[in-house]
Amino acid sequence: MITLVPIASVDLFEVEELLDEAFGTDRHQRTAYRLREGTDPVPELSLAAVEDGVLVGSIQCWPVQLTDAGGNIAPLILVGPVAVRPERQRDGIGRMLVAAALDRSDVLDSEPMMLIGDADYYDRFFGFSARHTGGWTLPGPVDRDRLLVRLRSGQQVPPHAALGPRGAATGPDSSRSAEEQSASAPADQALVPGGD
Ligand SMILES: CC(C)(COP(=O)(O)OP(=O)(O)OC[C@H]1O[C@@H](n2cnc3c(N)ncnc32)[C@H](O)[C@@H]1OP(=O)(O)O)[C@@H](O)C(=O)NCCC(=O)NCCS
Repeated sequence: MITLVPIASVDLFEVEELLDEAFGTDRHQRTAYRLREGTDPVPELSLAAVEDGVLVGSIQCWPVQLTDAGGNIAPLILVGPVAVRPERQRDGIGRMLVAAALDRSDVLDSEPMMLIGDADYYDRFFGFSARHTGGWTLPGPVDRDRLLVRLRSGQQVPPHAALGPRGAATGPDSSRSAEEQSASAPADQALVPGGD
């Protein structure tokens, strides 16, 4: 049986090993990692899936923010990495982890959840969409189709703003334009199946 527990209750080294297995050891180069710099995972929304005492999956969520041209800040939560041990993939564990984090965020009435990932998966099962993210800038290249946000009823996000770690001095001037970023997104970002 699979149990979801707070990620802080499992060995961090094992989590890092799982992430290397799922994403490769070069994962730290990804733009999503720039968004997490200097922050800690949100404890209530960061979970480990454990089966017979073995770590089989994990999800971490991070505090990020959008800063618009006027310096207004809108807090969001970055979902990911979500990872399932390769030999246990496609057995519902990823969905279980994402659904649990989203359910908790709904109960806590937390900020909008966003991620960089495969819309085929995150739209289909969880209602994430790229519809509101086209004018965001990021501290690195991103495939625009994979920059997704999920808004609960009544939630809004600024259409043009710079995304960065919560508390960081980010602003539109500190990042390249959405068009520049899209044009220079490396092909490998588009080819990663699941996301960051
Ligand atoms: C992506 C990942 C988290 C999904 O978790 P999982 O436990 O393997 O998948 P689930 O069992 O929850 O979901 C299975 C369903 O999702 C679909 N699916 C799985 N990965 C998908 C992807 N990358 N794109 C589109 N659909 C996907 C499967 O086809 C399956 O659909 P079906 O039920 O119609 O057959 C997992 O495969 C993984 O860790 N991959 C490597 C790391 C990664 O890319 N993580 C991305 C998240 S940030």
